[in-house]
Amino acid sequence: VISLEDEGIIIIKFGGSAITNKNVYKSVRKDVIKMAARELREAIAVKPYLKTIIVLGGGSFGHPLAKKYKLQDGIISEESLIGISKTIDSMRELSLIVSNMLREEKLKVVPIQPSSIAINKNGKLHTIYLETLKKFLEIGLIPILWGDVVYDVEKGCSILSGDEIVSKISLELNVSKVIYGLEVDGIFTDPIKLKGLVNVINDKNLHLLQKSVGESKGIDVTGGMIKKIDETLKIYQRGIPVFFINLTKPNNLYRVLVKNENVGTLLFKGSL
Ligand code: IPE
Repeated sequence: VISLEDEGIIIIKFGGSAITNKNVYKSVRKDVIKMAARELREAIAVKPYLKTIIVLGGGSFGHPLAKKYKLQDGIISEESLIGISKTIDSMRELSLIVSNMLREEKLKVVPIQPSSIAINKNGKLHTIYLETLKKFLEIGLIPILWGDVVYDVEKGCSILSGDEIVSKISLELNVSKVIYGLEVDGIFTDPIKLKGLVNVINDKNLHLLQKSVGESKGIDVTGGMIKKIDETLKIYQRGIPVFFINLTKPNNLYRVLVKNENVGTLLFKGSL
């Protein structure tokens, strides 16, 4: 049996709600980041050939500022530019905290600022330069990217969500699996009450994914769950397995990375 990990890149999204406290401005969940870092290090110890890319959500470092300055609407006033400036720096702060914590676990991470490599058009990703990222991966570094405010050819600026970056990279590079680190256990039939965890989603029950669109907690400027689901559907259609896991609970990340275990919800056309 050839395991999925033997080839290809693994993208891990650290969801904003998992690694930050979405209701408190600029607060990180250090315990969650530390645990994820340790589990990634342990997984790489078992499988030294693992190639991973980490993508951070904005959480309480991104959404409050983006909302305050209405950055999704583009450049609308003189305040917009200071808003862009502050939001980019706020996300750099989050990324710096995360990269320092990962490095404490001996992980060789390299931050790549999305607003330096990507351009949006009318709120959607238009172009992104991935050559540096590819080369960094080749020499053994772990790139970290994040949701960011970027230049927009129509509006002057708009938000590029981490989820869009994840789906774009999944379509462009040789990605073997995507792991969505959430603050909940996966996709639920009742997303409000968090009841009825769905184990596997494929063509037979794809509607459950749409149904999972509930109110996402806290402030979300990038279109909430609907937008996230659109992006994961692109990855699904590509035939790449998407694992939704609870990043705040121990061993989930390790089990998916090392054993391909479905510890939450697996969105996949095929079988593992
Ligand atoms: C949002 O990124 C980035 C900014 C608001 C600057 P995401 O949309 O990927 O973040 P989360 O996971 O929902 O927090």
